[in-house]
Amino acid sequence: MNIRKGRIDDIDKVYKLYKKVSKIEGGIARLEDEVTREYVEGFIKNALDDGVLIVAEKDGEVVGEIHGYKIGLRVFDHVLSNITIVVSPDFYGEGIGKKIFLKFMEEGKKIEGISRMELIARESNQKALKFYESLGFEIEGKMRQRIKNSKDELEADIMMGIIF
Ligand SMILES: CC(C)(COP(=O)(O)OP(=O)(O)OC[C@H]1O[C@@H](n2cnc3c(N)ncnc32)[C@H](O)[C@@H]1OP(=O)(O)O)[C@@H](O)C(=O)NCCC(=O)NCCS
Repeated sequence: MNIRKGRIDDIDKVYKLYKKVSKIEGGIARLEDEVTREYVEGFIKNALDDGVLIVAEKDGEVVGEIHGYKIGLRVFDHVLSNITIVVSPDFYGEGIGKKIFLKFMEEGKKIEGISRMELIARESNQKALKFYESLGFEIEGKMRQRIKNSKDELEADIMMGIIF
């Protein structure tokens, strides 16, 4: 397993990973048909320009990815936001998520002026919420009835943050 910074030429491999992960219910917000190559190219460019992009590579495939980038306004210049992490379901529970997240935080802290990281996870994604808590994130708020699940029911989105 190679954990490394992502590159622009990872687009196709990351796209493939996101397509796979988007088929799983209750994970990332985007539905499968909303995961386009343009979407992936967009966040990769944003993360490379103004944030952090980390991938886990195995046998030439990207099996885990995390990115985050700044919001774009100077008042939020200390915030690493828009954080999304995915791991290939074939490798869940093997510690890849933790490894890439720790590397992401290490690299994020190196960006001058960054003192806060933030993310959002749906309330039913308890695995992700526990995971973020284990990394030091705290629940900061709850946006009620913000996100739909596959049954068209509304559920809360949970805001989490870490300050250092
Ligand atoms: C969330 C996700 C990134 C975790 O990746 P992973 O590689 O399986 O996680 P790891 O093996 O590194 O486990 C990290 C921690 O997650 C938690 N965790 C992992 N599997 C879990 C499970 N089945 N139930 C509860 N907690 C679990 C534990 O806290 C674990 O830490 P520990 O091993 O020290 O106890 C992965 O499940 C995923 O890609 N899910 C789909 C996309 C998604 O939900 N993204 C987040 C959107 S907000």
